[in-house]
Amino acid sequence: MKKILITGGAGFIGSHVVRRFVKNYPEYEIFNLDALTYAGNLENLSDIKNEPNYLFVKGDITDQVFIDNLFKENAFDGVIHLAAESHVDRSITNPMEFIMTNIVGTVNLLNAARNLWKGNFEGKRFYHISTDEVYGSLGDEGFFTETTPYDPKSPYSASKASSDHLVRAYHNTYKLPVVLSNCSNNYGPNQFPEKLIPLIIHNIENNKPLPVYGKGLNIRDWLYVEDHASAIDLIFHKGTVGETYNIGGNNEWRNIDIVKKICSVMDRKLNREPGTSEKLITNVTDRAGHDLRYAIDATKIKNELSWEPSLQFEEGIEKTIDWYLNNKEWLNNVTSGDYQNYYKKMYGGR
Ligand code: NAD
Ligand code: DAU
Repeated sequence: MKKILITGGAGFIGSHVVRRFVKNYPEYEIFNLDALTYAGNLENLSDIKNEPNYLFVKGDITDQVFIDNLFKENAFDGVIHLAAESHVDRSITNPMEFIMTNIVGTVNLLNAARNLWKGNFEGKRFYHISTDEVYGSLGDEGFFTETTPYDPKSPYSASKASSDHLVRAYHNTYKLPVVLSNCSNNYGPNQFPEKLIPLIIHNIENNKPLPVYGKGLNIRDWLYVEDHASAIDLIFHKGTVGETYNIGGNNEWRNIDIVKKICSVMDRKLNREPGTSEKLITNVTDRAGHDLRYAIDATKIKNELSWEPSLQFEEGIEKTIDWYLNNKEWLNNVTSGDYQNYYKKMYGGR
């Protein structure tokens, strides 16, 4: 039986990856290592928690002694590393947490894998999940490819770029069998409502203002989270060691347009007059250093691994909104406590 360590499995993307691996690979023992920060929630995995090939381990990747012992006690064959501080706005107000988890935490895992595998790399793999934000910001034209030079602009993206470089350096220096992927914006169930799409859904439901940074003209390339999980599955199993794969939705939206789209779907689902939710749109102060546009060229993963997004945005956003409307208890749980303080600080209690 192969032992696979998935870090950050109680978070948004990690929970979809853990579920997919637990269900699709009964021959693997899946360890979900997560510190359960504000963004981690075991409710995301309640349906699989009793599966015989699933084990949750609470722990912090910045704790070197803990990580070393975990790897000594469990001879992992593979690591799929998603644990991170992931929200750009939080990285602007508190960069150090991002440095610690995203950089120091990643190096702790790299060192532990290196010490465990000791140069015997047959059947071993360290997979680092990263972001398209490492490439910086695009203008109106062009796409990020795997060879686009790194130019991170926020403390979050700089910390992810740093961890990407370290992962590649461990491959170059110690031959650690790594693979990486850099993905665009994900959306779907289990996303913490500090990120644009769940925040807008949550606020419409509660008749609260919909904060749009600046004029809402920034562009993101949106991918349904289960499509990201399927790409991760493929890259983990079939990606070439030492390589990087870009993953994207081929689905660019200006923020203002995506907010209006959600408004119209929500009006229909909540039986409100068309146009009701749009009245809640409120332009607020722009994010500092706000990247204008991200867009991925996903040709490499399409050509080499035959991966393409399976879900059209129309269907994905309906599914996502339905999930949030049907999971009010989840929303209430994650928005109690710290969320209220965070929201007040960000949006002045509106
Ligand atoms: P998330 O914030 O929803 O989840 C992160 C998880 O990591 C949480 O469960 C949290 O408890 C855990 N964690 C945080 N610090 C930890 C620590 N020190 N030790 C152990 N666990 C810790 O994040 P997400 O949106 O699911 O992103 C997952 C990964 O994918 C991240 O590496 C992120 O950079 C990357 N990514 C995200 C997106 C996106 O659109 N969300 C796109 C591309 C790449
Ligand atoms: O591109 C991949 C990245 O996508 C991931 O690496 C990050 O972990 C993930 O958080 C996401 O980063 P963004 O900053 O693009 O996502 P966010 O949902 O925070 O914002 C999306 C866009 O919407 C961005 O241009 C900022 C804007 N925005 C966001 C919020 C929270 C608003 O206009 N209002 C808001 O209230």
